[in-house]
Amino acid sequence: MRMVDIITKKRDGGKLSDEEIEFVVNGYVDGKIPDYQVSSLLMAIVFKGMSNDEIVTLTDRMEHSGDVMDLSSIPGFKVDKHSTGGVGDKTSLALGPMVAACGAVVAKMSGRGLGHTGGTLDKLESIPGINVSLTQEQFMEQLKTVGIAIAGQTGKLVPADKKLYALRDVTGTVESIPLIASSVMSKKLASGSDCILLDVKFGNGAFMKTRESAKELAKIMCDIGNSLNRDTRAVLTSMEQPLGNAVGNSLEVKEAINTLKGKGPKDFTNLCYQSGAIMLEQAHIAKDEKEGLEMIKKVVADGSAFEKFKEMIKAQGGDVSYIENPEKFPISKNKIEIKAAKPGYVKQIVALQIGESAMRLGAGRETFDDVIDMSAGILLNKKVGDKVAKGELLCTAFTNKDDYSEVLKDIEKAFVIVDGFVETPPTVHDYIFSKWE
Ligand code: URA
Repeated sequence: MRMVDIITKKRDGGKLSDEEIEFVVNGYVDGKIPDYQVSSLLMAIVFKGMSNDEIVTLTDRMEHSGDVMDLSSIPGFKVDKHSTGGVGDKTSLALGPMVAACGAVVAKMSGRGLGHTGGTLDKLESIPGINVSLTQEQFMEQLKTVGIAIAGQTGKLVPADKKLYALRDVTGTVESIPLIASSVMSKKLASGSDCILLDVKFGNGAFMKTRESAKELAKIMCDIGNSLNRDTRAVLTSMEQPLGNAVGNSLEVKEAINTLKGKGPKDFTNLCYQSGAIMLEQAHIAKDEKEGLEMIKKVVADGSAFEKFKEMIKAQGGDVSYIENPEKFPISKNKIEIKAAKPGYVKQIVALQIGESAMRLGAGRETFDDVIDMSAGILLNKKVGDKVAKGELLCTAFTNKDDYSEVLKDIEKAFVIVDGFVETPPTVHDYIFSKWE
């Protein structure tokens, strides 16, 4: 088999055989096929797409390119969730402990920030002492003793995605339904959970720009999971504005803490509650979503969700005093308030621009080697649908950098204020599961 023939076949719109897909995945992981040939194939896939059969085979070969976790020794249904990436998306930090406090086992492999989107591991690392590089043994042990672990993908899990993702990031080949579906699902399947809830984002701050394309992606991923006997469902959520009010690592951890105590922003709280209700039904802990929702509300109200978060942080070596006293998190030396230039209603807060601005303030990496400033970011005071008076606070930017004036202009531009009334948008736009059509 020759890689060049596989590339030209896909370039001309052909369907790759199982053997050809396996040849590419194994050859790339083993270092036998060079980056330039794989880049070329990836671009051909971006333009020509893949059939469902090809996507299933690609996912399967990627999943089995390394170790596969076996969680069967842990009693009960294991649940996992995955977001396709957004701005201010700290959902795992609050949702995971809520669901675990209700008795579900939450086995969560997370990633780092990518481009304008944040990553759960970076957020967690704003807590001094925390270890997110658990070995498989440590991960399993924590699931048994605490019921929840959030850690990075171990080196031996899905090496194909590690290499492919890094290559896609620098070759303009991230935004492709077959490539995103296989990337997400190979990781979810390899990490061994029985139930998977996908949070598929759409809008300017997401990889899928339209609701239709997000729905297509969600359906394909659900089909892959369900065909392999994993209860896989998806919620479609908007990334037209950031999720919650906080964007930036320690700012988001503090918001997750507030949400676990029942004092979080409305949209973020809604997403955690609705997702949690579904996950409890998937885990057979609640008989339906309604009962699941009541259970989630209860563990927030009685403090057990917050206690579960502390237990997890402690088990992973984090300094729990920061969780108990969030004012201990360092604050950036520059705290700049951005105020409304005119009165009206907030129509849009361009998530992409807020995400990129937060990154430029220090909250994300512009290059692979950049060190994140955990205290940097943006705290929104207004959300889409809110009424604002002239001069009212829209948001506050936090940074330790001194050359922030250009970033401030972009943050200001991200807020679109109009004269007429604007309705508050829903958090969850669609719910896709096996029975859904
Ligand atoms: N998240 C992933 O894990 N993979 C993608 O390709 C896109 C988002």
